[in-house]
Amino acid sequence: MNVYDAERMAELMGDEGFELTEDMTDADMVILNTCHIREKAAEKVYSELGRVRKSKENRTETGKNTIVAVAGCVAQAEGEEIIRRAPVVDMVVGPQSYQNLPELLGEFNTSGKPVIETEFPEEDKFKKLAGITASSPSSFVTVQEGCDKFCTFCVVPYTRGGEYSRPVADILEDAKRLVDQGVKELTLLGQNVNAYHGKGQDGKDHSLAALLETLSELNGIERLRFTTSHPNDMQDDLIDAHRDNPKLMPYLHLPFQSGSNRILKAMNRRHTREHYIKLVARIREARPDLALSTDIIVGFPGETDQDFEDTMDLVDRIGYASAYSFKYSSRPGTPAAEHEQQVDEEVKKQRLALLQKRLTSQQKSFNESKVGQQMTVLLEKNGRHEGQLIGRSPYLQSVHVEVEHAKIGDMIDVTIEGATLNSLKAVINPSSSKVTTNELKTLESNQPA
Ligand code: 5AD
Ligand code: SF4
Repeated sequence: MNVYDAERMAELMGDEGFELTEDMTDADMVILNTCHIREKAAEKVYSELGRVRKSKENRTETGKNTIVAVAGCVAQAEGEEIIRRAPVVDMVVGPQSYQNLPELLGEFNTSGKPVIETEFPEEDKFKKLAGITASSPSSFVTVQEGCDKFCTFCVVPYTRGGEYSRPVADILEDAKRLVDQGVKELTLLGQNVNAYHGKGQDGKDHSLAALLETLSELNGIERLRFTTSHPNDMQDDLIDAHRDNPKLMPYLHLPFQSGSNRILKAMNRRHTREHYIKLVARIREARPDLALSTDIIVGFPGETDQDFEDTMDLVDRIGYASAYSFKYSSRPGTPAAEHEQQVDEEVKKQRLALLQKRLTSQQKSFNESKVGQQMTVLLEKNGRHEGQLIGRSPYLQSVHVEVEHAKIGDMIDVTIEGATLNSLKAVINPSSSKVTTNELKTLESNQPA
């Protein structure tokens, strides 16, 4: 979602005459888009601001100014505090108000005083973001934002606000615009994307499965994905879509956070391990080759060795194609931060190492299980050497392929020849017919050099 937001900010500033630069010493304005989910991510902002300050000082010596903005969830959570800790910052803009960046910049230019904007305005943020441009044949579209779940460890409901679903017609408009630019794959984004219930053109609420169906009818869309989902919002129609909608890719990110019912309760997750196991069985029945991914936290306050064993056991039972795992990080203002039984840092570290060893081995096995299989790959970028292109498998694996007569945006049929932990190696099938339904209009020029 931060990638999506950063691209929108670049578009907004582009309309004001700014251009992207890879070189900070060249930048008249630097925007740091920030994440507050764990302490490490939030603290990184300040070390990064140190670098920005040095660059700004160098530019000042040559008579050039640099405007420094901090956007994203750290901006939302810390507000004015950022300017107190890092006086180099001129603007602080939360994730619900970045659509107003141009006006806020005007305000700053007029007053010369720091501007802080962390409101959740009533206006429709996405109306101001109309005109989405594609940077790859695979593009993100935000369909839902915010969260009402209040897991006790998580800042999202506070930084991103309550759950909101965009109307179907608005999403369709973005999708059409992207297809016109050569996009073939859409990943629908939302902090709680499967809770999506946007207004349809019939005035009724549409589920995520219905939205996926509507989008799959769009000519030019070849692939659909969505992320991130909560187990409790995995409705029957969405499970069925994994069986019935051929454009919906066989990949699902379904966080479970902990395998211990006691910890799940303390996390306010409102699901049990048994519920999760049953749910996965149903989804796999609908789509047996589904690649499953998850998020797991170790060392939540009060987590015992037995609780951790329950997490390891759940990982063994389910078997993941990939996973993100984290040490619990205490976040100010969340209920779990107040918990007295915080787990020792060393214990968290050991548990995370054990868990990641297991997950890594599952990921490698999953990748290896694809060797010898044929599949379609959507080519997304150039590889390291001449003639190599990198794309994605239906299972979201990175696939490296040597091809002469294909280009970014093509969908080609390949045979998988090798697998490592993080990618697959493939050769194009002699019979592969490339899907080139749309000419790439802007994509090639948008590719970073
Ligand atoms: N500490 C560690 N991990 C966290 N996550 C969210 N909050 C925290 C926290 N306080 C993880 C969850 C979530 C993912 C996006 O980040 O696993 O699913
Ligand atoms: Fe955070 Fe996800 Fe829980 Fe919402 S459902 S509070 S985003 S972990």
